[in-house]
Amino acid sequence: MALGAPRRDLLMLLMALGLTPGDPVRSSGGSLVNCTCKSPECRGPICQGAWCTVVLVQEEGVSREHRSCGTRDPELCRGRPTEFFNHYCCYKSFCNQNVSLTLKATPSEQPSGDGQLPLVLGPVLALLALIALGALALWHIRRRRRKNRGLHSQLGESSIILKASEQRDSMLGDLLDSDCTTGSGSGLPFLVQRTVARQVALMECVGKGRYGEVWRGLWHGESVAVKIFSSRDEQSWFRETEIYNTVLLRHDNILGFIASDMTSRNSSTQLWLITHYHEHGSLYDFLQRQTLEPQLALQLAVSAACGLAHLHVEIFGTQGKPAIAHRDLKSRNVLVKSNLQCCIADLGLAVMHSQSSDYLDIGNNPRVGTKRYMAPEVLDEQIRTDCFESYKWTDIWAFGLVLWEITRRVIVNGIVEDYRPPFYDAVPNDPSFEDMKKVVCVDQQTPVIPNRLAADPVLSGLAQMMRECWYPNPSARLTALRIKKTLQKLSSSPRKPKATH
Ligand SMILES: *[C@@H]1O[C@H](CO)[C@@H](O)[C@H](O)[C@H]1NC(C)=O
Ligand SMILES: *[C@@H]1O[C@H](CO)[C@@H](O)[C@H](O)[C@H]1NC(C)=O
Repeated sequence: MALGAPRRDLLMLLMALGLTPGDPVRSSGGSLVNCTCKSPECRGPICQGAWCTVVLVQEEGVSREHRSCGTRDPELCRGRPTEFFNHYCCYKSFCNQNVSLTLKATPSEQPSGDGQLPLVLGPVLALLALIALGALALWHIRRRRRKNRGLHSQLGESSIILKASEQRDSMLGDLLDSDCTTGSGSGLPFLVQRTVARQVALMECVGKGRYGEVWRGLWHGESVAVKIFSSRDEQSWFRETEIYNTVLLRHDNILGFIASDMTSRNSSTQLWLITHYHEHGSLYDFLQRQTLEPQLALQLAVSAACGLAHLHVEIFGTQGKPAIAHRDLKSRNVLVKSNLQCCIADLGLAVMHSQSSDYLDIGNNPRVGTKRYMAPEVLDEQIRTDCFESYKWTDIWAFGLVLWEITRRVIVNGIVEDYRPPFYDAVPNDPSFEDMKKVVCVDQQTPVIPNRLAADPVLSGLAQMMRECWYPNPSARLTALRIKKTLQKLSSSPRKPKATH
């Protein structure tokens, strides 16, 4: 049925895949904005143009920033930062006033030769095309259902969103809440995703690891997080893109998806995942800096549990979702939002299951979870990989470890411990599979639960919960739903510490 779709869908699909020259950056119907002008060509402090620009260039070791107005060559607005050049476009008056850009220091791994590129891109493009077709088909079906709500052409949508920028404060919020998001997944239509991605300026690198890099980016004045996947982790990008684009995953406690984009530059493939930005960073980072009052610890735990329970549950119906197991839960993959609630990130390893349509989708990512957080049945390779429940049980093991990391940082009677990762006292840094297996399977160790938790009825409840996440028998462990409900009950119960003698 996708083949019968109108031609413009095909065009949109091709553009979404970067296969035709598109012009996603448009000025909004001839209206002009006023911009800050600071560059040798400026005639005054203000200029008028279709959009505002900031250009950062490095010449002979000196960086120069030019603020100005854009009237032509929207091609520039798609510029991606390099060691020598960065460029930013925005569409509100004076939106270029306070933006400062950085250059991207690129220790970029170039593929060893051009011939390798089609090898890498081929399967990914083919799969992406399949998803796109599927998403389009679904989108069509849903759109047909609500045709009475008025139609605007799909290609028109990208200009609609650009126009919206002049009036709204949070364009992203409006965009994501609006009716023109796809009916099929958490994301925007592919063309819009691409448009958004090409308008993001990278501002600062906020994280780096084996997975790649995370940058704080700026889109029309709003901070967004940009995860740039290392080339060897393209399967994770693909999996996360697939899940966010096919599953409705909007939830307060799951990291909000904005766009995915793939570009080919200088014969290397760049894979971006753009999400909401949370300045507190990961729970791991947060716990390094913060000690916690019991109430805050509970709030972090409850909110993370709500996210996990939402992932794990299958919701039936047209607005439904399959059950999802995360498979790499850890404090680095939980983010702390500005309201001090957690949200769960990184779906690159996730598996999906639908009871109603009886499918188990394990993906084909060669990556494995983080060894430190692996459940005993994963370490001794007894896990039943054909059974979806087994993956949920490994999430619960890891969730117990995250709870333990939180509880070390809770202040009880003035006492608190330093942040430590789980099993810090039993395995070396960057433990091997064998290190972990010895501790978790052979010696059957679990982390030591801080004694001081027993002095508080609520926190002792938390201690008990951890024990029930760490049962060696996976099916005996708590479920995410049970954890969520128990934590909710604990956090609403009046806190009266036991009398201390
Ligand atoms: C830009 O400035 C001019 C003159 O100062 C003013 O008339 C116009 O309304 C401004 N345009 C916008 C979009 O703010
Ligand atoms: C830029 O920063 C100055 C000083 O902090 C502030 O007064 C101004 O409103 C800012 N401009 C924009 C467009 O945010």
